[in-house]
Amino acid sequence: MEQSKNNGEGAVFPREQWEYCDRVRLLLSERMDHPPLAHVHSYGCQQNVADGEKIKGILARSGYGFTDSVSDADLIFYNTCAVRENAEDRVFGNVGALKGLKKKNPGLVIGLCGCMMQQEHVSEKIRKSYPYVDLVFGTHALQLLPELLYRVLTENKRVFDTAERSEEFVEGLPIRRDGNIKAWLPIMQGCDNFCTYCVVPYVRGREHSRRLENVLRDVRELAEQGYKEITLLGQNVNSYGKGLTGDVTFAGLLREIEKIPGEFRVRFMTSHPKDCTHELIDTIAGSKKLCPYLHLPVQSGSDRVLAAMNRHYDREKYLELVRYAREKIPGLTLSSDIIVGFPGETYEEFCETLSLIREVRYDFLFTFLYSPRVGTRAASMEDPVPAEEKSRWFRELLAAQEEIGAGRNEALVGKTLRVLAEGEGKSGPGYLSGKSPGNITVEFAAPPERIGQFSDVRITRSLNWAVFGELV
Ligand code: 5AD
Ligand code: SF4
Repeated sequence: MEQSKNNGEGAVFPREQWEYCDRVRLLLSERMDHPPLAHVHSYGCQQNVADGEKIKGILARSGYGFTDSVSDADLIFYNTCAVRENAEDRVFGNVGALKGLKKKNPGLVIGLCGCMMQQEHVSEKIRKSYPYVDLVFGTHALQLLPELLYRVLTENKRVFDTAERSEEFVEGLPIRRDGNIKAWLPIMQGCDNFCTYCVVPYVRGREHSRRLENVLRDVRELAEQGYKEITLLGQNVNSYGKGLTGDVTFAGLLREIEKIPGEFRVRFMTSHPKDCTHELIDTIAGSKKLCPYLHLPVQSGSDRVLAAMNRHYDREKYLELVRYAREKIPGLTLSSDIIVGFPGETYEEFCETLSLIREVRYDFLFTFLYSPRVGTRAASMEDPVPAEEKSRWFRELLAAQEEIGAGRNEALVGKTLRVLAEGEGKSGPGYLSGKSPGNITVEFAAPPERIGQFSDVRITRSLNWAVFGELV
């Protein structure tokens, strides 16, 4: 099986894989008495959703249309997430539910891909206990999907490809985007940080940045196609540029994007506090295109726990960054991820997290109960605190955040926000729903032609899930 080649421009989607797309399309047109339909579902983070758009791009190129219903599908792909146990449980549950469909329709192709499949114990479990799954491929085999699918359709046996391939970002895969207003744009892949709780570096491999000119070309194309919001994606966007020739940094990339003409706005995720520089914050502050929004996952407010997590910053350094960002970027929206119940965390240490969130007053908080992941360092640490106790801490954290968040929307009343309308609102006919630069949901009365456009909206009242306003 030929690997993607480095032609000096970065790795590219191999030519013979395009040919496999054509072979699959021909095969399907000969075999099927109806246009083939695929159901593709991506679990987990936006990076995975972006991979799902590439999978759909390959399938569209191979002759498939798409359906939201598994029972109408000729091919079902679940693009899985391994970051926490509950995400994995959901996948196993949903795959189990496909057994009956496969019995009724033996020609149905069932495929599993994504981060979970890159873990050996998972792919072995699928091999042994889910015999009706036809195709398993990991995150390192996405660019080989056309060939793998062709083999499933012609060889009458199950196909597994979960080999690790540490290579560059593969450019040029076909993409079928889920929407025409907002676009995901991966700028790098993998992670080298090895936070001790996290499985990502094991399943997504080493960090590789895309070449600057490739990212800029994509942004230009998306802007020309009329996309109004582009979210730059990476596990740790702040270390963008590492390993590229020349002095390329994330702040430098953002400054280049700023020069691209067109009315569009830019977000990015995720930022690691250890690599978040004042230069980056100054760049956001001086930009017209970048949203004043920073997702800066702190994980814990305790220095001992942060060190055990291998995060490479402490509470004071983090708070200093937040102070600097708040000072430089007026109206900054700030959000974070928190893990509750890391192995060995004490109640006192958890209280340091509580005091940190009260000090920072995040606009949004994404909270997770620690989930042990096979192969990570934290999975072999002593973890004496019982699950019920951790759940109690978790509820305490949610209650604290609810109190902090309560006044946030109220404070927007009277302000005018630039809102990108994304679709019809929940408030009934004639209402549109969109997002502010700080990603707050805004509902307002406007004609449907405004969907996909920016509008200035004056906020008149607030609820906890959204604010309401009038067109200015
Ligand atoms: N358990 C709980 N939460 C985790 N995260 C990553 N790994 C784990 C784990 N093993 C959380 C972190 C990260 C977010 C994407 O998921 O908070 O920032
Ligand atoms: Fe996981 Fe840490 Fe990498 Fe984020 S930075 S993907 S939490 S190892």
